[in-house]
Amino acid sequence: MCGIVGYVGGRPALDVVVEGLARLEYRGYDSAGVAVLADGKLATAKRAGKLVNLRGALEDEPPPEGTLGMGHTRWATHGAPNDRNAHPHVDCTGSVAVIHNGIIENFAELRAELEENGHRLLSDTDTEAVAHLLEDEVKAGGGLVEAMRRVCRRLEGAFTLVAVHTGDPDLVVGARRNSPLVVGVGEGENFLASDVAAFIAHTRNAIELGQDQIVELRAGGVTVTDFEGRPADVKEYHVDWDVSAAEKGGFDYFMLKEIAEQPQAVADTLLGRIGADGRLHLDEMRIPDRELREVDKIIIVACGTSYHAGLIAKYAIEHWAGLPCEVELASEFRYRDPILSPSTLVIAISQSGETMDALMAVRHAREQKAKLLGICNVNGSTLPRECDGVLYTHAGPEIAVASTKAFLTQLVAVYLIALYIAQVRGTKWGDEVFAMVQLLERMPEKVEKVLETMEPVRELARSLSGEHCVLFLGRHVGFPVALEGALKLKELAYMHAEGFAAGELKHGPIALIEEGLPVVVVVPPRAREVLHDKIVSNIQEIRARGARTIVIAEDGDESVEPYADTLIGVPAVPTLLQPLVTTVPLQVFACELASAKGHDVDQPRNLAKSVTVE
Ligand code: G6P
Repeated sequence: MCGIVGYVGGRPALDVVVEGLARLEYRGYDSAGVAVLADGKLATAKRAGKLVNLRGALEDEPPPEGTLGMGHTRWATHGAPNDRNAHPHVDCTGSVAVIHNGIIENFAELRAELEENGHRLLSDTDTEAVAHLLEDEVKAGGGLVEAMRRVCRRLEGAFTLVAVHTGDPDLVVGARRNSPLVVGVGEGENFLASDVAAFIAHTRNAIELGQDQIVELRAGGVTVTDFEGRPADVKEYHVDWDVSAAEKGGFDYFMLKEIAEQPQAVADTLLGRIGADGRLHLDEMRIPDRELREVDKIIIVACGTSYHAGLIAKYAIEHWAGLPCEVELASEFRYRDPILSPSTLVIAISQSGETMDALMAVRHAREQKAKLLGICNVNGSTLPRECDGVLYTHAGPEIAVASTKAFLTQLVAVYLIALYIAQVRGTKWGDEVFAMVQLLERMPEKVEKVLETMEPVRELARSLSGEHCVLFLGRHVGFPVALEGALKLKELAYMHAEGFAAGELKHGPIALIEEGLPVVVVVPPRAREVLHDKIVSNIQEIRARGARTIVIAEDGDESVEPYADTLIGVPAVPTLLQPLVTTVPLQVFACELASAKGHDVDQPRNLAKSVTVE
């Protein structure tokens, strides 16, 4: 969702800001704008649509060159995505400019009050109210930082705000509550951004900001305080990837690059977690073994693709760790009455660590005194700060909106957690845990094998680009894989796609089957005879009714051949690990089909990479 960039230093700010916005494009947006402070005056430009429109406007009317500026990509919440509602917003005097990510819930009252006091608001946004509130507070004295503090104390909801004022031309002020904001620390220059990708080309030193903090950014230094003005503890960290990781590296799309990076991402997520003795070491979880032994229930909360990783985790946790496990959409969790206690372990899975629904679920669980564990890919994000412990996935930056390599590494993380709990609690024979750990280490090579055989999947996808609907069926862990395959197709190809548990077929979905309808079926390994044979019957049932069957089964599974219009082979692995190989063809399928339809694969319409509002 909205991307934010702020800069102060020695370079032309416009270049730094527009380049930063380009690196945040992946977050999803529908308009963009910039403000530059030069010669004591603010110049702004904003355009609906993609950055190309803003760049065009800046070429037509170049603003004066300044070394302080900010930029914004907006994902519309209040008001249509047009030029007028794009950020930055300015006050009545044109001396304060503001950009914002989040939703200010009491904006209607604030707007009414401002209008009553003679302010003229020109947009339909909640953000503009902040520009006018700052105008009043700056007039009241104390400077922009103090004004920001006073305004923040009046705001309800979630916000990251960045503001500049002509009265202090070396200052960019940022404020953060419930929305992401990080500081990039350079030499003689400093940066603010929604995530490090925006400034990674300039510095890899970053500062994590906490809740309700204000950052005062000047070319010569950074000061962080809270909303009351008290100095805040700052946590500086070094970003462990460089700018090349956030570039396409010769691929047509980020998504293709990220699919190709999966073997490495899986290997990196395993790295350092398996000891020479074959035992797991997950000390970074920071939940003592003694407490893990006391856990009597696990609840997983997540959204989107991460939720599907959670659904797969349930099978692994119940089987290996022998604990009851529930999986809940994070957006639903706090609106029912989940039964939690200090012996409940809540695991929140989020690639970005900034998904608002996931964060709210975690806070709800904390109020009920549950233990909290995060699975997260982005260092410096909010989720790890809000949990007792965190297991990082090491997928590297994921830029394409549709999650691929992050998903596979989330699976690795949940397998590690399930096996680790089994190891700590001694719930499974050491041999089985040991054998699984060994097999996990071989998964990068298996995923690589899948990637080597994807040409027929690409061909199939191109041949189906005229279809309107595709169904996906699976059993056991193949069911969440079917859901993920359908989600990918919806996200990227804008097609009607549904995933079903194959056992439910006869309870409804079979009515959808008609001549030629493509149905993708994920077949469990032959070793799980009962499951396997049941799904082979399901394939026959849908084929008899005219479905075009696309079957994903382990290499050499001859029993499915007679019923498969297209057969996609994947390496043989144990059932619980199978999603690591069966998901990959579905990612490739959706990506190729969307590309054949001419869609923007990396930035599908209406979607955002991290959904930072509820
Ligand atoms: C958005 C993205 C999805 C992602 C979901 C959860 O909807 O478009 O790709 O799976 O958010 O994101 P998270 O960062 O919490 O894993």
